[in-house]
Amino acid sequence: MHPNKKSTFTGSLGFVLAAAGSAVGVGNIWRFPYLAAKDGGGLFLLIYLVLVLTFGFTLLTTDVAFGRRTKKNALQAFGSVRKEWSFLGWLTFLVPAIIMTYYSVIGGWILKYLAVYLTGGGDAASQDGYFTSFITAPVAPVVFTLLFLCFTALVVYRGVEKGIEKFSRIVMPGLLVLIVGIAIFSLTLRSGEAEAQRTGLEGLSVYLLPNFEGLTVSRFFEVLLDAMSQLFFSLSVSMGIMITYGSYVKDEVNLSQALSQIEIFDTLVAFLAGMMIIPAVYVFFGTEGMTSGPSLMFVSLPKVFQAMGGFGTLVGLAFFLMVAFAALTSSVSIMETLVANCMEIFHTSRRRMSGIIALLSAVCSVVICLGYNLFYFELTLPNGQAAQMLDLVDYISNSFLMPFISLLTCIFVGWVIKPEFISEEMEASGHPFRRKKMYRFMIRYVAPVMMAVLFVQSTGLLGAVLKLLG
Ligand code: PHE
Repeated sequence: MHPNKKSTFTGSLGFVLAAAGSAVGVGNIWRFPYLAAKDGGGLFLLIYLVLVLTFGFTLLTTDVAFGRRTKKNALQAFGSVRKEWSFLGWLTFLVPAIIMTYYSVIGGWILKYLAVYLTGGGDAASQDGYFTSFITAPVAPVVFTLLFLCFTALVVYRGVEKGIEKFSRIVMPGLLVLIVGIAIFSLTLRSGEAEAQRTGLEGLSVYLLPNFEGLTVSRFFEVLLDAMSQLFFSLSVSMGIMITYGSYVKDEVNLSQALSQIEIFDTLVAFLAGMMIIPAVYVFFGTEGMTSGPSLMFVSLPKVFQAMGGFGTLVGLAFFLMVAFAALTSSVSIMETLVANCMEIFHTSRRRMSGIIALLSAVCSVVICLGYNLFYFELTLPNGQAAQMLDLVDYISNSFLMPFISLLTCIFVGWVIKPEFISEEMEASGHPFRRKKMYRFMIRYVAPVMMAVLFVQSTGLLGAVLKLLG
């Protein structure tokens, strides 16, 4: 018997909110805005939008429909269709296993900032060096990471319907309201003296208008690849998560429609996050403030909140509360995938497996956490960035494994089992699959080529070639 036969979402909305919960996370709120700021504002937005509609759609459709058709988790889904391809299930399983270890560390940082704003310590958080001294401490980050893991495990422990679906149903609409509220507030900001005043609306134009300054072929490629790897991470595709969630979707649900809603939701939140963060940073620090990259959320934003005066503490609190929820629904989906896969293999109960996985994740996360302290090292990644342990595992899973898995999945679906395997499932509920022709073309030709490029890039080879070309 299928051990989690009865696990399903109650209906389309439950699925859409849970999947959107997985998709909307730290990636949308922190990564997307800093990439947009770094990659020429509107130019990045435009490229990203085109990629979501073509590429993101193809990968998301593949995962969810494959999951619903096989009613299995990634580990067994591939092998159940073609025995020789079971290795792909294992490879896919690796990604959430790796991501779990560092996502909860970032989740812990977010909880810490939430706690700081709750206790009125926003001023301290805006000081130089605060973030670094926190993450390099031996105890505090570990405690917050474990706390974050406990919350995650609790939701997973309660199961698909009572835990994940219920939690997402409450959190996701709340998140949308919060983000719209803060975004509007951001647009009304202004600072500086009369003649050098910067306004939120100007900041908005920096975000929305394409900046073609200094655009070369190799720079365009860089933006394209940034947008593409962001897309994977943001939609939670190619890591078995959407296969697992797909296997919980009832047969009568209109998949085409549900998938469009997930795409729209995820992209909308990312877009709004940019609208909330970029104008605010621009008003207080000008365009230079936006080049801070990954430290935007933990270093620049607290400074923005502080510059807002007394009201800033409240905005900061609302902001970190929202990010905490977004991160939690994402880490729930990661742990759920691990638990569901292992339940299927070991034929154990959800309760037991949740406990075991939580414990294993805790051990690994603590190691990653201490990568800034006890186990500190620094190395240079193929893309030239300096990396500590967390960046290294992030690079292995997102930049290296994910394009590789997607490439294999495209070959598997496009050429081995054929795209009809997916399109039949899309139409199984009696609803039309509108983008069927495009899907076929994408999965057979475009997606594999793009994936191969992305994969080669992650090894550092492409960068070297592009450098030669200028
Ligand atoms: N999609 C999530 C985000 O945007 C991240 C995530 C990655 C979630 C992997 C699940 C699995 O932050």
